[in-house]
Amino acid sequence: DHVLTESEFVRQNDLRYPFEERGLQFGDGIYEVIRVYGGSYYLIKEHVERFYRSAEAVKIDVPYTKKELYEQLDQLLELNKVKGDAKVYLQMTRGSAPRDHAFPSETKANLYAYVKDLPRSKNAMLDGVTAITHPDVRWDWCYIKSLNLLPNVMAKQAAKEEGCYEAVLHKDGEVTECSSSNVYLVRGGKVYTHPAKKNILHGCVRMRIEEFCKDENIDFIEEAFRVEDFQYADEVFITSSTSEVMPVLKVDQQVIGNGRPGQLTRTLQKCYERDAG
Ligand code: PDD
Repeated sequence: DHVLTESEFVRQNDLRYPFEERGLQFGDGIYEVIRVYGGSYYLIKEHVERFYRSAEAVKIDVPYTKKELYEQLDQLLELNKVKGDAKVYLQMTRGSAPRDHAFPSETKANLYAYVKDLPRSKNAMLDGVTAITHPDVRWDWCYIKSLNLLPNVMAKQAAKEEGCYEAVLHKDGEVTECSSSNVYLVRGGKVYTHPAKKNILHGCVRMRIEEFCKDENIDFIEEAFRVEDFQYADEVFITSSTSEVMPVLKVDQQVIGNGRPGQLTRTLQKCYERDAG
C-alpha cells in the first residue's frame, strides 16, 4: 500500500491531500492509467509520453524528468512487490493554492501514483459486452487526459443503469469514442475508427491496434462512422488499458453482426495477447 507522492513514497493511510487542491476544486490536472502484466508495465513509454503531452497542453510544469518518472514508477511496483496483473493510476494537478481560476503564480504540481491489483476480464473478452449510445457533451480537447471526467462519469452511469458495459459517445450522430475506451467498427474486413484528432483520446492500445492491423494486412481506416452505421457492422469492439480488446455484441437495440464476437476481433485479441505477454 505504498503511494508515490512528490517523489516520496508514503503509506496509503498516511496520504494527506492539501486544503485548496486545484485537482479537487477545478479538476485542474491530468492522469494516466497504465496496465501491468506479470509485474511489468505494458506500453509504459506511450503512457509517459502522453502524460507529458497532456501536461504541456494544459501548461503544467512536470517537476520531474521522464527518467525520474520512469524510475519512480518502477520503484512503485518494487515497493508494493507487484508480481501479477495490476493497474497504476498516475495523476498530476497544478498544485495547491488559494482558489482562483487563473494559474497561481507560485505553485508546484502535485503528483501521486498508486498500484492496484487488476485481474484481466477474461470472461468478458471471451463473451463480449453490450453498449448504449450517449451524446458526447465533452469539450474540444479530449486528446488531453484531463481530470475533468464528469461527462464521462455521467455517460458510464447511464450505461450501467441500462445493464451495459460502455457508452458509445457521438456528436450529432458521429461516433467519437466511448466514456473510457476507443471504439471501432468492422465492415468488409476493414477496421474503421475516428481519426486521432483533438476531440478523442489517442489511446495507447489504439496505437497498437493500428500496428496489429498493419501486421495482419487489415485496412485500418481513420474515418468517423455514424450511429446508424452500427446496423451494417460485421463486428464492433472497444479498446483501453483496462478493457484490452473487448467485443461489443449490441449497441442500444442493434445487434451487431451475428451477435457473437467476430473473427477479426479475435485476431486482434490474439495480437494483443502476444504483444502484452
Ligand atoms: N481510460 N478514451 C477515453 C475517453 C479513455 O478514458 C481511455 C482510457 C481510452 C483508451 O486509452 P488507453 O488505450 O490509452 O487506455 C480512450 C482509462 C483506462 C481510464 O480512464 O480508466
